[in-house]
Amino acid sequence: MDKKVTVIGAGNVGATAAQRLAEKQLCDVVLVDIVEGVPQGKALDLTQAAAIEKHDSRVTGANTYDGTTQSDIVIITAGIPRKPGMSRDDLISTNAGIVGNVTKEVASRSPEAIIIVVSNPLDAMCHVAFDACGFPKERVIGMAGVLDSARFRAFIAMELNVSVENTHAFVLGGHGDTMVPLPRYSTVAGIPITELLAQERIDALVDRTRNGGAEIVGLLKTGSAFYAPASAAVEMAESILKDKKKILPCAAYLQGEYGIQDLFIGVPVKLGAKGAEEIIEITLTDAENQALQKSAAAVQELKDLLKTLG
Ligand code: NAI
Ligand code: 2OP
Repeated sequence: MDKKVTVIGAGNVGATAAQRLAEKQLCDVVLVDIVEGVPQGKALDLTQAAAIEKHDSRVTGANTYDGTTQSDIVIITAGIPRKPGMSRDDLISTNAGIVGNVTKEVASRSPEAIIIVVSNPLDAMCHVAFDACGFPKERVIGMAGVLDSARFRAFIAMELNVSVENTHAFVLGGHGDTMVPLPRYSTVAGIPITELLAQERIDALVDRTRNGGAEIVGLLKTGSAFYAPASAAVEMAESILKDKKKILPCAAYLQGEYGIQDLFIGVPVKLGAKGAEEIIEITLTDAENQALQKSAAAVQELKDLLKTLG
């Protein structure tokens, strides 16, 4: 393959992302983890599956960064996931240390890479990675909105008994309790769901979307969601690797857009070969804008908390 993606963290999200990248024949994949044997073992397992899955992507695993040089994309999933009773924000101190260190390792070896951050709390970890790599803002992007929108799409399709392929949804804001699902911009076959569903049903779907991660944590008990998160990160990677210029909700560094300054938060972004090539500013009602500003304030609090952690 002429493209190379490094995935840091060979746990649930990282290994599943590696599998999807390889099976879609998007690139060669390098899996890195601190636990000895795990990235090597998972890479070997995926390599052996290739004969059956019919792809020629090379998957390698390591505990060092030597094999990561000149990656086109680095997906950072290293860190701890939440357990029942924990919020994403409870992970901040542990994951800030991990994300800062791994970002420095990859940035020095792949100075032209585009970094997709997955580790939680997502928006705060984007700041950690951005500060640690020194890359331009277009090349540090967080994955959350694609996942939250996919959850909203799944619930809309279930509610209306339609193909999920007919659905589109936008969830903006931070990846937390203050996320901002936008029913007006969420459609089935181009028809806004506000014309298809009663407000009370929309409210229920919005609520389930906001709690989508917690619902899965409650069921799994030992970790958090990983199939849909891996799919979401790979959709972003594919748009970049193929320069598709898809417009996807991603955490991007805002400098005045939506009236928000120097903050990573989820907004519609055009993703292409250069990374976050454009931030799309859509018109929001007063209520939608207030919800986005409230979410930005929650992300700002976490950003401020990072400073106190050193
Ligand atoms: P996991 O525990 O299965 O995997 C994490 C992996 O990171 C482990 O294999 C661990 O050994 C590795 N790791 C820890 N420190 C490391 C270091 N210094 N260098 C390299 N590897 C290291 O967790 P999972 O489920 O894969 O989740 C990973 C992260 O992604 C968590 O922080 C989780 O909250 C977050 N997440 C974010 C989502 C989002 O929407 N942004 C969605 C799902 C998960
Ligand atoms: C999720 O939303 C844990 O952030 C992760 O599932």
